[in-house]
Amino acid sequence: MKICVIGAGYVGLATGVMFGKLGHEVVCADIDESRVKSVNSGRLPFHEPPLEKELKRLVKAGSLRAVTDTRGAVRDCKFVFICVQTPSLPSGRIDINPVKAATREVGRALRRSEDYKVIVMKSTVVPGTTDSVVKPMLERLSGRKCGVHFGLCMNPEFLQEGTALEDSMEPARIVVGSEDKRSGDLLAALYRPVKAPKVRTDPRSAEMIKYASNTFLATKISYANEIANMCERFGIDSEQVLEAAGMDPRIGRLFLRPGLGFGGSCLPKDVRALRDRARSEGYRSRLLDALLAINEGQPVEGIRLLEKAVGPLRGKRIAVLGLAFKGGVDDIRETRAVPLVTELMARGARVVAYDPMAMDNFISVMPTIEYASSAAECLNGADGCIVQADWPEFKRLGRKEFSKMTNPVVVDGRRCLDPAAVEKAGARYLGIGYAPGRGK
Ligand code: UDX
Ligand code: UDX
Repeated sequence: MKICVIGAGYVGLATGVMFGKLGHEVVCADIDESRVKSVNSGRLPFHEPPLEKELKRLVKAGSLRAVTDTRGAVRDCKFVFICVQTPSLPSGRIDINPVKAATREVGRALRRSEDYKVIVMKSTVVPGTTDSVVKPMLERLSGRKCGVHFGLCMNPEFLQEGTALEDSMEPARIVVGSEDKRSGDLLAALYRPVKAPKVRTDPRSAEMIKYASNTFLATKISYANEIANMCERFGIDSEQVLEAAGMDPRIGRLFLRPGLGFGGSCLPKDVRALRDRARSEGYRSRLLDALLAINEGQPVEGIRLLEKAVGPLRGKRIAVLGLAFKGGVDDIRETRAVPLVTELMARGARVVAYDPMAMDNFISVMPTIEYASSAAECLNGADGCIVQADWPEFKRLGRKEFSKMTNPVVVDGRRCLDPAAVEKAGARYLGIGYAPGRGK
């Protein structure tokens, strides 16, 4: 089957590579020429090693290629997946201009094609977008009728950065929201080799399933942060508390790690977008308000711990370890490192930062702070440090590195270090929701 994927970003390339792996012929269309070149030489425009390995193989075998001519690619294919970005506007509403731009190209391509194609919306869009924006645009520009001459589905993605290919090949569920039965049947059949429960529904429900999922994940994190903030003040270690609470299958253990808050290209944006969509219907979501407010407060929680150990920050040299929105990726979209560093600077600290992968991206948004070329160099002469992203290499820091600090104080902003190991290596350990346990 010939499959076209519009948008060679995280989602588009994970989708394209997945269908390539399943034996289909894939064309990735992107308006960004440098991305197209990069894909055609087997390189991803971001850091995701297992996906890149598979991409290389498919490009070499001739089963995946990238082009800038979206309309041509659509014309040639049976399925068209729209995977362009849907970023936040300052109001919290999503910017659907990239979706409209891609839809325009698809609509014009449909005008000149004879066969029945299935158009699939994969980008995260608020409920109602596929049936009330995308569908009329496609019908108007193509002069054809949805459900008769072409099909339209909404098929959200649930992949996590760092495990994009694995999450695409083995998802927890596949949601097929279709305007017409025929396109839903065709899309479900395309996914037949992927072992996962298939949920058949309408496009609006499919759009809402994505938001219901991501806002629940965000709720779990804000809940964990709230419990952790209280635990620390009560002299209780939140790790054991959350672990034990999570043993109840109704709660579940995953996504209960407290820290400096959730970042990334999806969770913060999706919570704001759903809140804005609800507001447009006259509904104020107090839950979404609260979980965003908790998230905003977490970097300050980390700084409070630091000040507890090192005193006022004016003139102090503070090391920030990890700038990506989480360990293992080079993505800095909505990273909590930005509010963290901004607040440290507002309090007069001299910030020195390090990240194994995301430094170049971060320098472009915060060019004026000092950068170190390794974690050891970052800690050298520091009056304290905050771990902002859970990179595995930070776990290996020990006496050699901590002894070079002017004041060996480590604030674990992701609860990813072993408190006992840090203390054994001669540094003072503080963490979000941490209190040394007694009587264990
Ligand atoms: C994805 C989803 O699609 C988004 O809805 C979700 O909420 C977050 O993840 P992502 O894959 O991360 O977005 O986007 P990005 O890495 O920005 O890639 C999108 C690509 O689409 C870019 O390369 C851009 O050039 C391309 N694009 C955009 C087109 O090819 N055509 C357009 O008309 C618009
Ligand atoms: C997320 C969703 O997990 C995925 O299903 C969706 O399709 C896209 O958005 P991703 O953006 O890759 O994936 O990030 P994720 O691993 O969910 O982490 C998001 C943020 O939450 C990170 O900043 C991370 O550090 C933080 N987090 C995560 C916590 O603070 N605690 C946790 O327990 C888990």
